Amino acid sequence: MNFSTKIINWYNQNYRDLPWRNTTDAYKIWLSEIILQQTRVSQGLPYYINFINAFPTVKDLANADEQQILKLWQGLGYYSRARNLHFTAKFVVENHKGIFPNSYEELLKLKGIGTYTAAAIASFSSNEPVAVLDGNVFRVLSRVFNVDYDISQNTSKKYFIELATKVLSKSKPDIHNQAIMEFGALQCVPKSPNCMECIFNDSCEAFKLKKVSELPVKSKKVKVTKRFLNYILVKDASENYEMNKRTDNGIWKNLFEFPCIESESEIEETEILNQLNVKYEIKNFHYFDTFDVLHKLSHQHLNIKFYTIEIEDAINKGYTFEELKQLPVPIVLHNFIEKIVI
Ligand code: ADE
Repeated sequence: MNFSTKIINWYNQNYRDLPWRNTTDAYKIWLSEIILQQTRVSQGLPYYINFINAFPTVKDLANADEQQILKLWQGLGYYSRARNLHFTAKFVVENHKGIFPNSYEELLKLKGIGTYTAAAIASFSSNEPVAVLDGNVFRVLSRVFNVDYDISQNTSKKYFIELATKVLSKSKPDIHNQAIMEFGALQCVPKSPNCMECIFNDSCEAFKLKKVSELPVKSKKVKVTKRFLNYILVKDASENYEMNKRTDNGIWKNLFEFPCIESESEIEETEILNQLNVKYEIKNFHYFDTFDVLHKLSHQHLNIKFYTIEIEDAINKGYTFEELKQLPVPIVLHNFIEKIVI
């Protein structure tokens, strides 16, 4: 039995019944794939359901306002995915008459869609024989075929794409692609896979050579930047709060936040107060000492502290506490807002 037949047989007995697997609607598949980038299925599933309910068609998504999309995305992280989602929905309505493309070539032209996502959508929605290559596929192929090329190198990626294409079922590329990813997610897992009970344990090269734990090879370490964010809840006499929209091109572009003092290393409470004194007439200053958070993202570690001040002057365009709860904010701020008693 060849690789593809084996993995498809395994899939038919072990697959998880997930809603985006019961449709060939390219729009819904696209939505699921964007949500699932860098996100576990268990975390992404409720977001997918909420998005499909709120925006059943690409036209609904295109007509939504960005703030509503960001609010629904809140907590998933990598917010550029949500902004690209909106951009692409509008683009598809304007340039494709609202019909989501389902060919690999057309999909690749859309913002936020790279080779993996284009192959996933094209194969799942129109059965186009293009192989997917994601972290799961790298792992399965590198082990079954004992490939020790460094997967963080572009030249290796080319080799893996050729291998993935060679083993791809040309008659059932949709099921084959789902199957190889599911096999990587459930059976051929990164740490301590159960190789004794595996459909490939008579043919897996890495298993034969006792190299399973060494594969895939990945040399590039991610460089992590430390950031120190000091958030200040600024409240005026009418109990309105200052909220600012982040406009820089960083991770939280277009999300709202409290006024923030950012520094490259930890700063003292007195220094925070000094900086605030320049801008505000302060009546009251308080440090929420039990709310410190270390928020670890893939490329950044955020050390976050919260303070509050009451000020004399009225805040221009302030928000009541109930109003600010409706704004899309980074999840760490959301958690803080939900916990504090004011
Ligand atoms: N991760 C990315 N795409 C997926 C899919 N179609 N099914 C399960 N997990 C996934």
